[in-house]
Amino acid sequence: MNPLNHVAIIMDGNGRWGVRNKNSRNAGHKAGLNTVEKIIKETIKNKIKFLTLYAFSTENWKRPKKEIKFLFNLLESFLEDKIDDLNKQKIKLKIIGKKNFSLKLNNLLKISEKKTSKNKRLQINLALNYGSKSEIINAFKQLEQNKETINEKNLNKYLQTKNIPDPDLLIRTGNTKRLSNFLLWQLAYSEIFFEKKLWPDFNEKDYNKIIRKYRSIKRNFGSI
Ligand code: FPP
Repeated sequence: MNPLNHVAIIMDGNGRWGVRNKNSRNAGHKAGLNTVEKIIKETIKNKIKFLTLYAFSTENWKRPKKEIKFLFNLLESFLEDKIDDLNKQKIKLKIIGKKNFSLKLNNLLKISEKKTSKNKRLQINLALNYGSKSEIINAFKQLEQNKETINEKNLNKYLQTKNIPDPDLLIRTGNTKRLSNFLLWQLAYSEIFFEKKLWPDFNEKDYNKIIRKYRSIKRNFGSI
């Protein structure tokens, strides 16, 4: 049975769900947050140590201002309401991506990371204003500045995922098969599952079904 230390998820389909069910894309994001909470609980039950969630890409800035504002307000209230609870559950929160939001959100993110930094049960990496290509370019620039040899080990030191093992499993919901500039380096040997359901409809049963399938795969990392 394959060990499972790190699950990464592209939570796609909120907008379509919202339009279909409530005539509002934002309602889809709100429903998507409920799925986030369910999946966190299930990740703990499965004793998985790292969960990386793609919440906002560098390309998502192209969305209407109203939707962006709604998403960040949702994140703010989520952190204000739940960070103590996450802390009690021994969950560590780490932001990957550039924190260049409002002063209030930047502070809230920093405080949340600091408060939970010693927790060891589950680490949630929230990818916010994250883009994998610029992450890789930055890492190369740092190697150059520090005159270090270009190799995998040195490059890994300058990625935002430093000290985080590569994802074993990537799940993308929403019936779309692409990586959308997410963890391009880190996903080199991950098992990838594309799920037809939209993120707000994705549930514990679907998650466990994928985990079971993942565990039964023969992973040979290029060998036979
Ligand atoms: C992609 O669906 C989803 C996002 C860009 C936002 C993800 C946000 C959440 C799951 C809720 C908030 C989470 C936190 C942690 C506060 P989409 O809008 O691109 O869907 P579409 O493809 O149907 O348009």
